[in-house]
Amino acid sequence: FSLKNYNTFGIEAKAKQFVSVHSVEELQTVLKENPAQKKFILGGGSNMLLTKDIEALTIHVDIKGKTIIDQTEDAVWVEAKAGENWHEFVLWTIDQDFGGLENMSLIPGNVGTTPIQNIGAYGTEIKNTFVYCDAVNIQTLEIRRFNKEECKFGYRESIFKNEVKDQYIIVSVVFKLTRKNHKINISYGDIAAELAKKDISAPTLKEVSNAIITIRQSKLPDPKELGNSGSFFKNPIIPKSDFERIHLLHPEMPSYTVSETEVKVPAGWLIEKAGFKGKRFGDAGIHKNQALVLVNYGNATGQEILNVSKEIQKTVKELFDIEIEAEVNVI
Ligand code: EPU
Repeated sequence: FSLKNYNTFGIEAKAKQFVSVHSVEELQTVLKENPAQKKFILGGGSNMLLTKDIEALTIHVDIKGKTIIDQTEDAVWVEAKAGENWHEFVLWTIDQDFGGLENMSLIPGNVGTTPIQNIGAYGTEIKNTFVYCDAVNIQTLEIRRFNKEECKFGYRESIFKNEVKDQYIIVSVVFKLTRKNHKINISYGDIAAELAKKDISAPTLKEVSNAIITIRQSKLPDPKELGNSGSFFKNPIIPKSDFERIHLLHPEMPSYTVSETEVKVPAGWLIEKAGFKGKRFGDAGIHKNQALVLVNYGNATGQEILNVSKEIQKTVKELFDIEIEAEVNVI
């Protein structure tokens, strides 16, 4: 079974056995019937680089549905099933005038994988609206509810990448959104400037979402046209003392303060300075508008993209003495 259409990088890799599940019960049945087999869980395929065929049983989580589970005058609790497309879900919340997810418009992938790496963009992360998620234990089939604290969210981090890695399949997520007094946040990057072009000073949720869609489309390639997985690397967080030393050599290096002792540096800047932006090696390359994004121009293999990523890591390390870590899961 070809996974080319199931990963946004558009990598040709085969799954020996593939099954789509459409409900929690179906998922539990598949797990129960194949207890000994290794499992490979597939959501929206937007954060992975396939470098080989999959021998494990591939389970495509295609559980759909979104429901309002509770509301007060000010707030609403919305549950989305894991297989809902993230962006379509965000647009649906905006159509209902529910606030909180608008800055995360147009992020590829499905709802069920958003908690794993605490997706974020333009000054917010899902941890800011997340209430809990339900997940099936792959071994015991029991459903466990993880509240926000238990998820141990960090920058592109959660318990699902650490303590309970590969042990659970998230089947639904609940978000608490605003029904009034929306907390509009347009302080990040170019959002305010984009709105100003249209003379908008007090934007609606929809207007914020539209501005972010415009900005993202101008910088980030559409996976349907050019295979990619969004940011390939995380922005490195380095000790302030290291930053000060490197900054002396590269005074124009941008940075964001993370804490008293740590600084985050945009990996895109490091990669651009290292000369990789827009470069192409066969069908693997670095996007011309955003150096953090690796792209598949057609028939790149996962291994070719991985090699490019290693070359970037090596050069950045040599030039800046900073290690950059992949954000996507390399399979
Ligand atoms: N920059 C460059 N050259 C580049 C790209 C970036 O110099 O080619 C520098 C610029 O100085 C720019 C700064 O990096 O001001 C930050 O760039 P940008 O605001 O585009 O964000 P980013 O750090 O590159 C992060 C997230 C994105 C998210 C944006 C917007 C990570 C790894 N990436 O990128 O998330 O959309 O902020 O909030 O944190 C993703 O995770 O897949 C993703 C796209």
